[in-house]
Amino acid sequence: MESYQSELNPNTRILMGPGPSDVHPRVLKAMATPLIGHLDPRFLEIMDDIKIMVQKTFRTRNQLTFVVSAPGSAGMETCLVNLLEPGDEALVCVNGVFGNRMSDIVERCGAKLFRVDALWGSPVDPDQVKEALGSCKPKIVAIVHAETSTGVLQPLEEISEIVHDAGALLVVDAVTSYCGAEIKVDEWGIDAIYSGAQKCLSAPPGLSPVSFGERAVAALERRKTKVQSWFLDLTMVKNYWAGAQRAYHHTGPVSAMYAMREALRLVLEEGLENRFERHRQNHLLLKEGLEALGFEFLVREEFRLPMLNAVKLPDGVEDGPARKRLLDEYNIEVGGGLGDFAGKIWRIGLMGNSSTPNHIHQLLGALKEIL
Ligand SMILES: Cc1ncc(COP(=O)(O)O)c(C=O)c1O
Repeated sequence: MESYQSELNPNTRILMGPGPSDVHPRVLKAMATPLIGHLDPRFLEIMDDIKIMVQKTFRTRNQLTFVVSAPGSAGMETCLVNLLEPGDEALVCVNGVFGNRMSDIVERCGAKLFRVDALWGSPVDPDQVKEALGSCKPKIVAIVHAETSTGVLQPLEEISEIVHDAGALLVVDAVTSYCGAEIKVDEWGIDAIYSGAQKCLSAPPGLSPVSFGERAVAALERRKTKVQSWFLDLTMVKNYWAGAQRAYHHTGPVSAMYAMREALRLVLEEGLENRFERHRQNHLLLKEGLEALGFEFLVREEFRLPMLNAVKLPDGVEDGPARKRLLDEYNIEVGGGLGDFAGKIWRIGLMGNSSTPNHIHQLLGALKEIL
């Protein structure tokens, strides 16, 4: 019998990697709701519900707040392709994989790329940004709030001031921090921000919440050239999210939107502050257990992400075989290192529904047996 001839039946995993995270049964149930048409008036109400809840979770009043029908990388691309025109200058802060990805997109937009590079595992220093702004005149400065490849939480407020003093727009990647750590889009002066569904929001992967502030919208209106991507061009996408006058743009992913609506409802029921505190407390519990087993954190304490724990492997522990045993024998997924950290660190996610003491005890119990 060919494998495709049997019914879909993957193992039930305990998701403690860099995403996706475990999904609440209410979200799974929402996905099984019968489909309605994506231009059905009831579906338009669902899109409005989602927009309001994304505004609340980003802590913004931005009108241009919506969800891209594709994963976090499409949110990244939406921000960059709409704000940049060929010949514009852009400064990208890079301290891991996702800063590199933004740099690649900037160049594909035909913009002139300037970079601030920081050590992987450390945040970008505001003084580095100030210095770089002395030798370029960028339209945007892009930065990652939670660098999933290294576990670094990037403070944003001081950098936001520096960026605005230089007359640039601040673009922020909040894929991993969204709904797991504080993000105040309006108060921090973030001009454009994107995230993903599959990390601390604990919805299935495939959607990307995005928000543009007034300054960014004004920059869109000043564009002289067409956005190079048809699908991501906000002049059309914004009409698709424009309440009653909604115009057909593409066929909305109905079931994924049902799931996102329920996941956002769960976040607001818990309360953002409670959710952030839960992520912090569970991070501390995991830290205690891992350190007792000989793991060391990669990142200095003050810049550690609570939802993505990057730890160096103790001597004698082999990355591949140990992660394989976790998966095969305990159904636990943790992430390996990327780039220079491949084989040397693990990235242990405590995101959204996967941020529970129960997950931590299961992982620590399995590690005690394996090590
Ligand atoms: C910080 C960051 N940015 C962007 C992305 C890209 O998101 P996606 O994989 O959903 O396209 C990820 C995914 O892990 C991420 O962690």
